[in-house]
Amino acid sequence: MKGIVLAGGSGSRLHPVTRAVSKQLLPVYDKPMIYYPISVLLLAGVRDILVISTPVDLPAFRRLLGDGGELGVRFDYAEQAAPNGLAEAFLIGADHVGDDTAALVLGDNIFHGQGFATVLQDQVARLEAEKGCVLFGYPVRDPGRYGVGEADETGRLLTIEEKPAAPRSNRAITGLYFYDNDVLDIARTLTPSARGELEITDVNQAYVARGDARLIDLGRGFAWLDTGTHESLIEASLYVQVLEHRQGVRFACLEEIALAKGWITPDQAFALGERQASSGYGAYVMDVARRAGAGARPDDSD
Ligand code: G1P
Repeated sequence: MKGIVLAGGSGSRLHPVTRAVSKQLLPVYDKPMIYYPISVLLLAGVRDILVISTPVDLPAFRRLLGDGGELGVRFDYAEQAAPNGLAEAFLIGADHVGDDTAALVLGDNIFHGQGFATVLQDQVARLEAEKGCVLFGYPVRDPGRYGVGEADETGRLLTIEEKPAAPRSNRAITGLYFYDNDVLDIARTLTPSARGELEITDVNQAYVARGDARLIDLGRGFAWLDTGTHESLIEASLYVQVLEHRQGVRFACLEEIALAKGWITPDQAFALGERQASSGYGAYVMDVARRAGAGARPDDSD
């Protein structure tokens, strides 16, 4: 499966904060926002990732993330010249996806919950075997702000609507989408919506019409957080701070995930932490790497 992180947009609801900095580079407590969606792809086992952003912001993402080699993954970059909608990711990223399945995650979506990695890996495996798409639903108080889905008891999506005035359920469709390779052809057939964008909901609608759109319920014990307003952004930071402080672990630590996956060695992880040792994040990476055996010589076990 190939991954795409879409980190475009003007972030106008956060102006003036986002006039000079991309929204997806703003801090969510102790790390840039884009770390969170990238961590979702890594946890799913997706290592080949295209980052799409505006021509102005793309260099900053490249500076932050590099080519991914240090994490044992691969990051490529592509421009979205104008805010033409989320589904344009599959026109821009067609060569990147090739003949593989695809995961799209929005660069401002934060997911957190026990057992999420297993859910992700199960769905990646299922999509390798079965056609269709997999969407993730989350109960919210204000579904009309999102894509809204309605599923039968087997999880098959029956309807999906973008920002409906009268939502048929409280299930928001989150910004994480898994597709079979047909998504590339579907994206080519789209026409812009009333707001002039290629809508991801229209892509999903095509799968609903085919009858092979599946909805995975993330449930109320899970956190799917918004970062679109000053209030939601600070709430997301506080959520991360409270849990990280209480548990002594960090979420969305890309080095830790790469180490746990066996994509880098403990010594390599240690070196990545050491580079930013004066931050709590760097010290944490060094600590995790040490516990995994970094710096251990063969006779250390005596
Ligand atoms: C987009 C999608 C919407 C989805 C949401 C998730 O909305 O169009 O279906 O529920 O992302 O974050 P936007 O944030 O572009 O308004």
